[in-house]
Amino acid sequence: MKLNLPKIASSEITPQAVFEKRRELIKMAAGGALGLELSSWFSREAFATNKIQVKPNPSYTLMEKTTALKDVTSYNNFYEFGTDKADPIAYASSLVTSPWKVSIEGLVGKPKVFDIEDLRKLVPLEERIYRLRCVEGWSMVIPWVGYSLSNLLKLVEPLGSAKYVEFVSLADKKQMRGVNSSVLQWPYVEGLRLDEANHPLTLLTLGLYGDVLPNQNGAPVRVVVPWKYGFKSGKSIVKIRLVEKQPATSWNISIPSEYGFYSNVNPEVDHPRWSQASERRIGDEKGFFAPKIKTLKFNGYGDQVASLYAGMDLTKFY
Ligand code: MTE
Repeated sequence: MKLNLPKIASSEITPQAVFEKRRELIKMAAGGALGLELSSWFSREAFATNKIQVKPNPSYTLMEKTTALKDVTSYNNFYEFGTDKADPIAYASSLVTSPWKVSIEGLVGKPKVFDIEDLRKLVPLEERIYRLRCVEGWSMVIPWVGYSLSNLLKLVEPLGSAKYVEFVSLADKKQMRGVNSSVLQWPYVEGLRLDEANHPLTLLTLGLYGDVLPNQNGAPVRVVVPWKYGFKSGKSIVKIRLVEKQPATSWNISIPSEYGFYSNVNPEVDHPRWSQASERRIGDEKGFFAPKIKTLKFNGYGDQVASLYAGMDLTKFY
């Protein structure tokens, strides 16, 4: 299987078995079974085997079976490389992820261009296991690596007039064959309200499964917003702009009646062409015949995020 991991020997990638063992330990520690705080053995083991140094964040660790690495890296949506789920793994190796710069600009006191290496070192990297629920009706459980986006935003000192954050992905026809098609308006643009972007769950994502991001998952840096449909999580980001007005986003421009700006996971609000009440977990042995799982409002993160939408009619702000 082709992972499109830049310059990393396969021996350096955390094997899934090692990963699962670590999760067992977190589970025991969280349940008090180990009789100690997250064990120091755990951290040492993680530091010894990972290509990038990662500390698990138990507050964000979902106790659900993680989706196998091979599924996370071979069933993807990344239209810059084609519209088929198998296109990103087949074609994303042409993406050059080093050198890579991310410009943070717009309504900020201190605009700055970061090298990807500096973003990796900004604050300690955490491992967080999140559900990713795609608007198409499937989901995965992925151990992401990164830190709260708020750490980065505060460094550039947003001005009082900044109300929204726009995320702009790379669009280079030479590296991304799909950008030659007009299936979406390029570059891929997504956006969040500033308070959503500053919510601690919103993850500036630099890796998964204890390693750097594979190209097909949005290398070298993407966002992951776990209570929203997957398309809100822009990949291969080159620019983050703080703006006053709600940004025009690629999917909303493309089909506004189907894809709103908010796109919070909501089983009570159907997509105009299908129900959003349930989902299929990718990698389930029974595949398409597996019983569907009930979709949870805000993808299960309601306790943390519902207050962001107090008083809003979520059928109108879909
Ligand atoms: N970001 C860009 N730049 N281009 C895309 O086509 N697809 C989105 C999102 N981010 C997309 C993107 C969609 S629809 C989903 S479901 C997730 O990425 C998929 O992320 P994954 O492939 O890592 O599971």
